[in-house]
Amino acid sequence: MVEAMASDRPTDARPWWQGAVIYQIYPRSFADANGDGIGDLRGIIDRLDHLRGTDASLGVDAIWLSPIFPSPLHDFGYDISDYTDVAPEFGSLADLDALITACHDRGLRLLLDLVPNHTSIEHAWFVESRSSRSNPRRDWYSWADPAPDGGPPNNWRCAFGPPAWTFDETTGQYYLHSFYPEQPDLNYRNPAVADAMHEVMRFWFRRGIDGFRVDAVAHVLKDPLLRDNPPYRRETWMPGFGMRMNQDPLWNMDRPEVHEVVRGLRRVADEFEGRVLIGEIYTPVERLAGYLGEDRADEFQLAFDFELLNTPWDWRLFMLAIERAEALHPPGAWPTYALSNHDNPRTATRYGRERARVAAFLLLMLRGVPVLYQGEEIGMVDAAPSAAGDRAGRDAQRTPMQWDGSSSGGFTAGRPWLPLVDQERVNVAAQAGDSGSLLSLYRRLLQVRAVTPALRCGTHRSVFELAEGVLGWIREAEGDRVLVLCNLTDEPRALDPAPLRRFGTPDRGEVLVATSDRAGHAELRTLVLERLEGVALSA
Ligand code: GLC
Ligand code: CA
Repeated sequence: MVEAMASDRPTDARPWWQGAVIYQIYPRSFADANGDGIGDLRGIIDRLDHLRGTDASLGVDAIWLSPIFPSPLHDFGYDISDYTDVAPEFGSLADLDALITACHDRGLRLLLDLVPNHTSIEHAWFVESRSSRSNPRRDWYSWADPAPDGGPPNNWRCAFGPPAWTFDETTGQYYLHSFYPEQPDLNYRNPAVADAMHEVMRFWFRRGIDGFRVDAVAHVLKDPLLRDNPPYRRETWMPGFGMRMNQDPLWNMDRPEVHEVVRGLRRVADEFEGRVLIGEIYTPVERLAGYLGEDRADEFQLAFDFELLNTPWDWRLFMLAIERAEALHPPGAWPTYALSNHDNPRTATRYGRERARVAAFLLLMLRGVPVLYQGEEIGMVDAAPSAAGDRAGRDAQRTPMQWDGSSSGGFTAGRPWLPLVDQERVNVAAQAGDSGSLLSLYRRLLQVRAVTPALRCGTHRSVFELAEGVLGWIREAEGDRVLVLCNLTDEPRALDPAPLRRFGTPDRGEVLVATSDRAGHAELRTLVLERLEGVALSA
């Protein structure tokens, strides 16, 4: 058994995750060590140099693995049939222990994915639950009688659009599922369910993992009266993934009772030292705020703010997402941002390859915890839906990591489970030695973040009206000030010096990092940003 990592800086009161950079690994697609075409834990161990520990590494602080547990793969691992084992295609518990040790040896933390809302239909708990109405585990899931017309008990829809209820012949009742029918929702009104999930957490914490990303947690409790959801009127909830319900999920998402479940998870995390829980909650930031901060110190330490990810390329909307995050995260809370993940089109696909550089710059210079999705650092793009097979509509962004330009991309010695996309051109090996590559830019950004307290943990103040299409902000910590400038337009932009004067910035600043080859000192009063240029200066 391995202990979690001790704090890097014992004298520093800040928890390790504040300002950390997290890297999301989609294990099926990261690296395949045994040639079966499917990524695995040994493959991850073999590739840790990419992430941390050498001069050529990205330098991330933690990795989060999407689910590695046994699963019949109806939702690619998010339907778990055994919470305390490793799926055979990924390896064994011994491999996981080896991965934990290998991570900790290089100062890298490891987070797993906790899926508390639902199990697989094949999980032993559900097999028992559906077997008869009197089974002791019946109440571990949400069962309800048909409506008088024989239809579903109410109008709730699952996150993918269809009804959230499936009829089960054996016992003549419907069971509830917030996602696919193969993912029945657990019933957290039964305290035994929370107890069981807490034991799952302890199992992994004792092995030494540093935390969990907590999946779909806004769904864990629903209205006990099963009231119908009102029709969809406005974007009360987040657009994008999960919002295909075509109704306001008023009664089956983000209910007040969810907070009690979160507090229970947090109590377990706090039984151990230095462990973090990151909530996945698809809600606008004003609702997200209810799970975070000093007043909610017993809930999540972090929770994804997906507003940035949902922002189309429009500088005003970026500004709005950033301002909303800064204004609405309560005191003590620390935003968590991603620009892509396994559920959403990739950044370079949504925004175009050219914009990927300044998008990376923006993400990594903001106050918060950036979560990078594997492949983002080399500008991987989505597969064409037909090429990817498109099982769940999300395969396109889950294609294998491209390590080199060979036909299997260095991902596998066999046949990759999903096709590669333009790997001759987009791969780690090609970008590693090229100082002008996107990968080199990510490395520089991470490096500067790591050694600059203002960027890693400083405050944020936006500087408005610098120029049309230019976002600017000041990060400040320990007397150290950094001015961050992003030109999101396709044209050069001269800055208006007036707003900078109001912030008392000096006339000249030293360039700390830029998306361009700008270096040395810059005259702030006469600065002209290149198209799609990001520059961070000491100021
Ligand atoms: C989360 C996951 C997604 C999954 C869903 C159900 O949103 O990120 O991939 O389908 O939860 O577990
Ligand atoms: Ca494999």
